[in-house]
Amino acid sequence: MQFLDNPLSYLNYSKFMQEAIIAALNTKAFPNPKVAAVLTDNKGNIKSTGVHHGPGTNHAEIDLLTKTTIDTDDVLYVTLEPCFHADSSPSCAVELLNTSLKNIVIGDKDVDPRTNGKSIELFKNKGLNIQFEYNANNLINPHYLNQKINKKSNTIIGKIASSQNNYIYNDQTEDKYISNDISLALTHILRASVDGIAIGKNTLLIDSPKLDVRNVNIQDSNPIKIVFWGADPNIDSHISNHSDIYFLTSFTHKADNVIPIIDVNFDLNKLFKNLNINSLLIEGGNYIHKYFTANALYDKFYWFKSSNNIHSGVKFSDEVIESLKNKYKPINKFLLKDNQLTTYTCM
Ligand SMILES: NC(=O)c1ccc[n+]([C@@H]2O[C@H](COP(=O)([O-])OP(=O)(O)OC[C@H]3O[C@@H](n4cnc5c(N)ncnc54)[C@H](OP(=O)(O)O)[C@@H]3O)[C@@H](O)[C@H]2O)c1
Repeated sequence: MQFLDNPLSYLNYSKFMQEAIIAALNTKAFPNPKVAAVLTDNKGNIKSTGVHHGPGTNHAEIDLLTKTTIDTDDVLYVTLEPCFHADSSPSCAVELLNTSLKNIVIGDKDVDPRTNGKSIELFKNKGLNIQFEYNANNLINPHYLNQKINKKSNTIIGKIASSQNNYIYNDQTEDKYISNDISLALTHILRASVDGIAIGKNTLLIDSPKLDVRNVNIQDSNPIKIVFWGADPNIDSHISNHSDIYFLTSFTHKADNVIPIIDVNFDLNKLFKNLNINSLLIEGGNYIHKYFTANALYDKFYWFKSSNNIHSGVKFSDEVIESLKNKYKPINKFLLKDNQLTTYTCM
């Protein structure tokens, strides 16, 4: 893995937590969280990596312990607090305490009530050095908090890229990218973390985004692609050109990849459930963001802002900006070279 090219360093993760995040993003563990553990030696070399492959299989820490032994001055990086409880995998906390481990870096506390900070307390009581690199698990498994605590059936994340003066489209250039390479690379990390990606009709027609995951270190991540299409009857060429996209329409159609959502009371949650989507990234444009922010349907929102101004094109809707101000609160700001990322959460 090329650390210099990895956008995760801009979110302040150390290079070994970055390695763990990427390893976790390469797994399919649902309904369990994607988790990875990376062990480094006293020279800063990676000794081994462990991952969790889903229900009934070893947790990442146990996977790692089957491949290597831990020495006193090694450091273990794990994206999620090791489990306190034992179920199909033994208690990772207990198994780790049976080794020489003295140093552990944890991504996030595991909010699963069976663990919920108990392993962290145990490690502290046993004298281990503990550090945190928060939001590693929240990034890898955006639905985890809703799944475990809020008992919501899905997690919806909005994303937009704008110029400094809030344009989201520049009609003076062929280049459709407003943000820089780091913002773009982070977008692909976000895509790899979700089950589905959605856009509005005009975004498909104007930008024709591939809606896939392009990151050389992440294989086999194929989120479901969705277009909120609406009423436009001129759909036939698009549904055949994009057989890998589900089109949500306000009319019926015989094609398998058209899903009519005619009724105003249509239950989107049910639809996402039928498509096995627990986490959905919505990449705009305005029309879609207006609907989702006005109704506070986003759990999180990512706003990438470049340092350049655009003088002609489409502006980010004032309504969306107002909704972000009134219904959301900023939780983090990151400098991505000359871009800035602000992350929001629903109030
Ligand atoms: N910078 C960025 O990050 C970014 C990201 C995405 C898009 N963009 C830009 O944003 C612009 C597109 O934004 P936009 O607001 O025009 O379009 P949009 O959100 O992509 O699509 C909106 C259109 O989709 C249809 N639609 C979708 N869902 C519908 C529903 N439930 N019911 C009825 N109709 C529905 C409507 O078409 P009809 O009115 O024909 O029915 C609506 O006008 C483009 O210029 C694109 O480049 C920028």
